Amino acid sequence: MRILVFASGRGSNFEALLNASSRGVLKSKIVGLVCDRDCNAIEIAKKNKIPFSILRPKDYAEKNNYIKELISITGSYSPDIILLAGYMRIIPSELLDEYPLKIINIHPSLLPLFKGKDAIKQAWDAGVKETGVTVHFVNDRMDDGLIILQKKVAVPNSLEELEHEIHVLEHKMYVEAVNLVSDLFIVVSKCLIGENIRYDGSNKLSKRIYKYVNGYRTECLLVCPEVLAGLGVPRSKINIINTRLISEDGVDLTDVMKRTCKDIIEKIPQNKMVLAILKDKSPSCGKTEPQGLLVSMLREHLKDRLLLLSETEI
Ligand code: GRF
Repeated sequence: MRILVFASGRGSNFEALLNASSRGVLKSKIVGLVCDRDCNAIEIAKKNKIPFSILRPKDYAEKNNYIKELISITGSYSPDIILLAGYMRIIPSELLDEYPLKIINIHPSLLPLFKGKDAIKQAWDAGVKETGVTVHFVNDRMDDGLIILQKKVAVPNSLEELEHEIHVLEHKMYVEAVNLVSDLFIVVSKCLIGENIRYDGSNKLSKRIYKYVNGYRTECLLVCPEVLAGLGVPRSKINIINTRLISEDGVDLTDVMKRTCKDIIEKIPQNKMVLAILKDKSPSCGKTEPQGLLVSMLREHLKDRLLLLSETEI
């Protein structure tokens, strides 16, 4: 995978990624650096002969022109993945549209706690006993998005020690998270990529999910438990009644749907981390209430091998 790093500051995470790449621990290549200002990360790029670009938003009278240039410069590196490493700007949604689930951030707290600037100090000032580091996919909200990896640090006796421990952990964790993301198996609800297979013949197209799935290079399982169970389109809507899946024309479909979900799970490789992108709400594959059957069976079967995302979170 080709990695492009975005940074604004010291660049210690960028440097750690470069070191890991040259040692072969990071199984991807760092192809460039994009900064929004002059900063130490650029010196690290120069030292390591990594191409870099500086794009200062204040040089653009029109925000749109800045965003277009950011997209164009980013594209010139042909990245598979973009890593934010102390990049002090909100990512424009236009860039997220271009790179859905391809932009990743590292944040020095246990998100959702202590979002924003000075997260280590925020945790220290709050007097918590433990804090940590989170690596997550970037979405339109600040320090939000699906968590890929999260690790804890017990708060030591001074803020300086805490900062040191957090940074040491970050440098290891970013590498681990990127390796994990570069080898995901994905399971996606078919209606989210625009197939008209919902009970009423409609779909729930998410352009970002469509783009992500379309550009996906490795294995991918597109599913609709109801259609796989042999129910046609259109069909009677299913509701969850006392933990059973009952169609609106009164048929109990629980057992047939369980068998179908089991068949889906059997197609998932045993040793891989799985990213399941399933609907937010649905009795068959909904992530939230009513929690779908497929979601609960995936959780039970995959445990901490499962990353779960819905169309509202991308
Ligand atoms: C890190 O703590 C990172 O988690 C946060 O910004 C800091 C960047 O540090 N997003 P560095 O520039 O990589 O040294």
